Amino acid sequence: MNSEHQYVQLSDGHFIPRLGFGTYKLKEVPNSKTVEATKIAIEAGFRHIDCAYVYQVEEEVGLAVRSKIEDGTVKREDIFYTSKLWSTFHHPNLVQSCLERSLKKLRFDYVDLYLIHFPIAMKPGEELYPKDENGKIIYDSLDLCATWEAMEKCKDAGLAKSIGVSNFNRRQLEMILNKPGLKYKPVCNQVECHVYHNQRKLLDFCKSKDIVLVAYGALGTQRYKECVDQNSPVLLDDPVLCALAKKRKRSPALIALRYQLQRGVVVLAQSLKENEIKENIQVFDFELTEEDMKVLDGLNRNFCYVAMQFMSDHPNYPFADEY
Ligand SMILES: NC(=O)c1ccc[n+]([C@@H]2O[C@H](COP(=O)([O-])OP(=O)(O)OC[C@H]3O[C@@H](n4cnc5c(N)ncnc54)[C@H](OP(=O)(O)O)[C@@H]3O)[C@@H](O)[C@H]2O)c1
Repeated sequence: MNSEHQYVQLSDGHFIPRLGFGTYKLKEVPNSKTVEATKIAIEAGFRHIDCAYVYQVEEEVGLAVRSKIEDGTVKREDIFYTSKLWSTFHHPNLVQSCLERSLKKLRFDYVDLYLIHFPIAMKPGEELYPKDENGKIIYDSLDLCATWEAMEKCKDAGLAKSIGVSNFNRRQLEMILNKPGLKYKPVCNQVECHVYHNQRKLLDFCKSKDIVLVAYGALGTQRYKECVDQNSPVLLDDPVLCALAKKRKRSPALIALRYQLQRGVVVLAQSLKENEIKENIQVFDFELTEEDMKVLDGLNRNFCYVAMQFMSDHPNYPFADEY
């Protein structure tokens, strides 16, 4: 994983590995599985690990990374670790405290990348999803630009090497980019992106602003019951994707990941299974032709697995705009 083509340079000069290991996991899976899978991922060659405060596995991920540092497999500086600011910490006075909580759990001095997880602020407190008596999320009315300024301070304090956003639409990205007195622009926007929702327009916009698009759900997500319609199509069973995989003698998962790399997208892949983790790192071993890429482009239907509909009444809900 060390050759140059496996990294992309961010607008602030740092390098991000083009393939990342996703650590979000279903609630019914014990946290200990994350320790094992993260160690396997590092042994297999993953150097980019994507996590977040709200995933509640940062202790386990930190443990795995530190054990791979202790046994000499990697050094801290070989690992690109991403965490994310949760929505109950958007208040400028709380931003750094969320990052510090993550760092404490991880037992790290810094994260490589810190993202605003979602562009909607929720009521501060220990509840991750604060709800009223009717089960509706209690929001907090805050200016995203003020949250961004607090993110900039985290970078200045050396707690985050790079800062970016996640689940932002074009309008929200422009709001940050056009903010008077902007000190650092977001280096990336992490969004759902796969062959059924290839984000062509958002990707073109991000490229024009030197913002890296990071894809989550590239394998069709884990189909989490709380967010994903269980009747939605299974991405890795798509007949066109499967036919192309057969033709290229690779798995549908590898084709779906490779598609993203070849369009300049940094891609995340989650798995707790050793065979899948080891397979996913092979994404650098082959190439798709221009014709293959066109076939995959043809699968786009702007279909979103994780639409977060329960927040669609909020003016900052990012998925109401075209992109
Ligand atoms: N910023 C955000 O709001 C946001 C939202 C969602 C996710 N994320 C990040 O993105 C990461 C990835 O997204 P995701 O977790 O939704 O899932 P994903 O990577 O799209 O898909 C994961 C699923 O794909 C299957 N898989 C993986 N490798 C495979 C292989 N080689 N062959 C066959 N199947 C394979 C696994 O299913 P089986 O285990 O059933 O085989 C796994 O559960 C997350 O873990 C998280 O870090 C961020």
